[in-house]
Amino acid sequence: MNLGRVVRLLSLTLALFLLMPAVASFAQTPVPPGPNTLTGPDVSNDQLLLQQLQGNLHGRVSIPDQKSAMLIQPEGQDWRALRDGTLKTVSAVVLLGMIAALVVFYVVRGKIRIDAGPSRRRIQRFNGMERFAHWITAASFLVLAVTGLNLVFGRWLLIPLLGPEAFATMTVYGKLAHNFLSFPFVLGIVLMLLIWVRHNIPNGSDIAWIKAAGGLFSKGKHPPAKKFNAGQKLIFWMVVAGGGVVAASGYVLLFPFAVTDIAGMQLAHLVHAILSVLLIAGIISHIYIGSIGMEGAFDAMGSGQVDVNWAREHHSLWLEEELRKGKAAGKPPTVGRQLPAE
Ligand code: HEM
Repeated sequence: MNLGRVVRLLSLTLALFLLMPAVASFAQTPVPPGPNTLTGPDVSNDQLLLQQLQGNLHGRVSIPDQKSAMLIQPEGQDWRALRDGTLKTVSAVVLLGMIAALVVFYVVRGKIRIDAGPSRRRIQRFNGMERFAHWITAASFLVLAVTGLNLVFGRWLLIPLLGPEAFATMTVYGKLAHNFLSFPFVLGIVLMLLIWVRHNIPNGSDIAWIKAAGGLFSKGKHPPAKKFNAGQKLIFWMVVAGGGVVAASGYVLLFPFAVTDIAGMQLAHLVHAILSVLLIAGIISHIYIGSIGMEGAFDAMGSGQVDVNWAREHHSLWLEEELRKGKAAGKPPTVGRQLPAE
């Protein structure tokens, strides 16, 4: 290689080296805001980008699925802020508020006793089919509630306790359970609807029951009620209608884009979350009154038979009807608390 060629090569390298900063700065020159294209607007800042695009950012795709052309949906940010912010806080307040109210009620009112004491004479309240419908709904609902709440509060509540790996494994199985247990839950509410709808049509005795607040706050006061009182009718419709909408909105999410677009799914998600929290709060109060809150209540769904004195105090109109049909069994009812049998 002669000296001239070496000098030319060196000068070219030097020139390129000197030009590099200018080329780099040219590449970084901000492009003025332009039309809805990928190169037009300033893409260095999310918020600015969204402002400039004023709507959805659509690209173009040649595959049949045109949904994939949507690159950014700005409403998704509002949805996420609502889901991770307001909704989470309000849900926590509603659920903890319900638990706190029940604790206060228990401390002030205590367990609601059978005023006349148990008679040890029993009457059939719910048959096997009724109890099957109740427990299939209850068991699936409880798992759905716990696994659903895990999706909302789990990251914040459980990751510090379990660590991310255990939490991730638990959540994957929880989500599977959440998807599949929706089916027995729906079966349960359909059965309950078919079996109990005729007992849950509002009637005159409900007004008197509501006026007396069900006698819940005053000892010895028992407004008459048929098979279900007004409070139970509320629970029934809440479970059947509310649970139905929760299930329907859940299926919209379980089968994405099958019935609606992304905006419809965001709405379904909010409906699903809000109704579920209200339903869970209502069911917490139901579980309380059906277990530790009221003497003799659990038997109705346990063995299916209740004490006649319990029935007389809480469902007097229903008991009269059943007695007319000759349904009670065992010894005649007694007044006053009985000593246990020797
Ligand atoms: C897991 C704990 C639960 C317990 C201990 C429980 C207990 C009871 C009891 C004792 C009754 C009969 C009340 C009576 O004889 O008048 C009842 C009825 C009923 N339960 Fe439950 N239950 C539970 C969970 C659930 C769940 C999770 C749901 C629905 C999601 C549910 C929905 C109903 C409905 C609709 C009725 C009929 C209306 C009423 O009595 O309020 N239960 N339950």
